[in-house]
Amino acid sequence: MDYFAITGNRPLKGVVDINGAKNAAVAIIPAALLSGGICTVDNLPDIDDVASYVTVLQSMGAKCKFLDRSTLQIDARKISSTAIAAENLKDMRASYYLIGALLGRFKRATVPMPGGCNFGARPIDLHIKGFEQLGATVIQEHGVVNVFADRLVGNQVYLDVASVGATINIMMAACYASGTTTIENAAKEPHIVDCANFLNMCGANIKGAGTSVIRITGVKIMKGCEYTIIPDQIEAGTYMIAAAMAGGEVKVRNIIPKHMESLTAKLQEMGCDINAGDDWVMVRSRGNLNACNIQTLYYPGFPTDLQPQMTALLTQADGVSYVTEAVFDNRFQYVDQLMRMGVKIKIEGRMAVVEGPARLTGADVIATDLRAGASLIIAALSAEGLTKISNIHYIDRGYEKIEAKLSSLGANIKRMSGDMPALMEYI
Ligand code: UD1
Repeated sequence: MDYFAITGNRPLKGVVDINGAKNAAVAIIPAALLSGGICTVDNLPDIDDVASYVTVLQSMGAKCKFLDRSTLQIDARKISSTAIAAENLKDMRASYYLIGALLGRFKRATVPMPGGCNFGARPIDLHIKGFEQLGATVIQEHGVVNVFADRLVGNQVYLDVASVGATINIMMAACYASGTTTIENAAKEPHIVDCANFLNMCGANIKGAGTSVIRITGVKIMKGCEYTIIPDQIEAGTYMIAAAMAGGEVKVRNIIPKHMESLTAKLQEMGCDINAGDDWVMVRSRGNLNACNIQTLYYPGFPTDLQPQMTALLTQADGVSYVTEAVFDNRFQYVDQLMRMGVKIKIEGRMAVVEGPARLTGADVIATDLRAGASLIIAALSAEGLTKISNIHYIDRGYEKIEAKLSSLGANIKRMSGDMPALMEYI
């Protein structure tokens, strides 16, 4: 398995272009199964999760063709199977969207339980509750979710937790249901709005996406469309944090600055200088960072998907910072790996107490999930000497060409093929 070799302590300077949003892509590709026409989706990131989804759709009989590197044409007019084989899903968490999309269009689906990044219990009970409220029967056995219905009827669905996945999944399942479905306490993340916009362009009738009440009135026909997905808020945030960590001056381009406000506010509080234009932000950091406290929240709060990267940054701030993880119950696993590099962090339940500035030194570390991997890269950027990061297939699930982008900013990062020599120690 490949690994990254990073030699730290070099400032970053230059411009980095952000790709389309992973979390929008992994919702919109399955959402195309709801369409009775041909959908062309543009600005897709070139990441493993997108490739996995294309394989899955093809295995179901959909025709998928890349018109260029970032533009995918999906023709799901004819589908040969609504049952998905486990080996096609790999460790993709967002496979759960296949349930809502197939149920919505074909009234049945058989989908293995989702995999993906493991940071605590990640139930799908709210998704299932929503499908049942639309009139579906859901049977979970042998690691597979079976769902079917004679007909789906709009209903009121209250989400106990503002779950991103449940909101999008119920929205998809309700597109053809008769009458109106109301999702109360819906999540508001930008990719929920993006997925709703895509479905509406195909002919769905969805109102209120981006607020906590979404209304979906069932339609009879959904056609194809051409759609460009939004930029990736988390990829953009990762490069903004990298710039703050390494010091220097980085322009992060092709983004929606409004999506970055919770992060921008925190970087400014830490002493970074930030300017924003229509589709870019510029981060300047001289390396003197103030401690600050973070609490992850649902959008527009601070995203949990930037928590590991931000914690790495806070190890270099002057003083004690408190990071509270309020979305997932176990998202500090990566801290053990950061400790190998010299960070001073204590975990107290859902809070990390980060003491800075710590002297970081390069070490051999393992990415335990996608954003954990990004956090290790960020730590390595300001560590003395060489850091080797293994398990980078997690990072490839969500970041397009991260080593090329960081290299173009001046980082010393290389993808090495073959097993990391010292890895055997940890197995
Ligand atoms: C999505 C994102 C992920 C991000 C997360 C939170 C995608 C593909 N992934 O994941 O990157 O970290 O939102 O912003 O978009 N919950 C339940 N029951 C459910 C569903 C969720 O209790 O049926 C709980 C979860 O355990 C968690 C919280 O709700 O504590 C939020 O999870 P959710 O928003 O559903 O996250 P995902 O959709 O899995």
